[in-house]
Amino acid sequence: MSASSPKTKLNASIFAHASFLVVAAMLAMQAGCGGPVSAAPAPAAVAAANAQPSVSAASMIDAGRYLVKIGGCNDCHTPGYVEQLMMTGKEMPESDWLMGGDVGFSGQWGVSYPANLRLSFQNMTEEQFLEMAHAGQGRPPMPWPSLMAMSDQDLKAIYAYIRALGPKGEVAPAALSPGVEPDRPHIPFVPQMPKG
Ligand code: HEC
Repeated sequence: MSASSPKTKLNASIFAHASFLVVAAMLAMQAGCGGPVSAAPAPAAVAAANAQPSVSAASMIDAGRYLVKIGGCNDCHTPGYVEQLMMTGKEMPESDWLMGGDVGFSGQWGVSYPANLRLSFQNMTEEQFLEMAHAGQGRPPMPWPSLMAMSDQDLKAIYAYIRALGPKGEVAPAALSPGVEPDRPHIPFVPQMPKG
C-alpha cells in the first residue's frame, strides 16, 4: 500500500480557471466598447472549460488503486470484501482483489455476474477499456454511469492498476437473458412489500 494520499487538483484549478474567466469576460466587455466582439472564445477559455478533473498521486498505479477503493469496485468484483472488512476490520489482501464471482445479480436485465477484472483487463487494450467505459453498455448493477462520468486520465489509471495486478482466478459465468432460470445462487433485486 502506498503511504501517499492522492488529492484532487479540482478545487485549485476551478479557482484558477474561475478567476481567469472573470478577467477574460472583463477584457471582452472592454473590447466590446471599441468594436465588434468576436463570438469565438479565446483558446485558453475553451481549454479551461474542457479541463477534466482527475486525481493526482505518486504514480498511475497509486491513482488507480485509490480510484478502485473509493469507486467501490471491490464491493462486487471481490466477493466477501465488504463483509470481511465490516465484520473483522481486516481488509482482504490486495493480491485477492477483483477476481469476480459466481453469485449473480438478478433483475429485469436477467442475471449478471461480477466479472473477473483481473482476467478482463489482460484481454483488453487501454483503448478498448476507454471505449467500453464511454459507451457504458452493460447490465446493472454495475455502476456504468460512474465509469461514463470518469475522466480519461482516471480511467487510464484504473486500467494501469488492474492490469498490473495481473491475471488470477476463474472467468465469471456468462450473463443470462431475462426469463432464463439460473443454475446457481443469485441475489434478486426485487423490492419487497412491507408486511401487514
Ligand atoms: C454493484 C456491483 C458492482 C460494482 C460496485 C462495480 N461493478 Fe463492475 N460489474 C458488475 C457486474 C454485475 C458486471 C457484469 C455486467 C454485465 O454482465 O453486463 C460488471 C462488469 C464490469 C466490467 C466489464 C468487464 C468485462 O469483461 O466485460 C468492467 C470493466 C467493470 N465492471 C469495472 C468496474 C470498476 C472499475 C468498478 C469500480 C469503479 C466496478 N466495476 C464496480 C458489478 C459491479
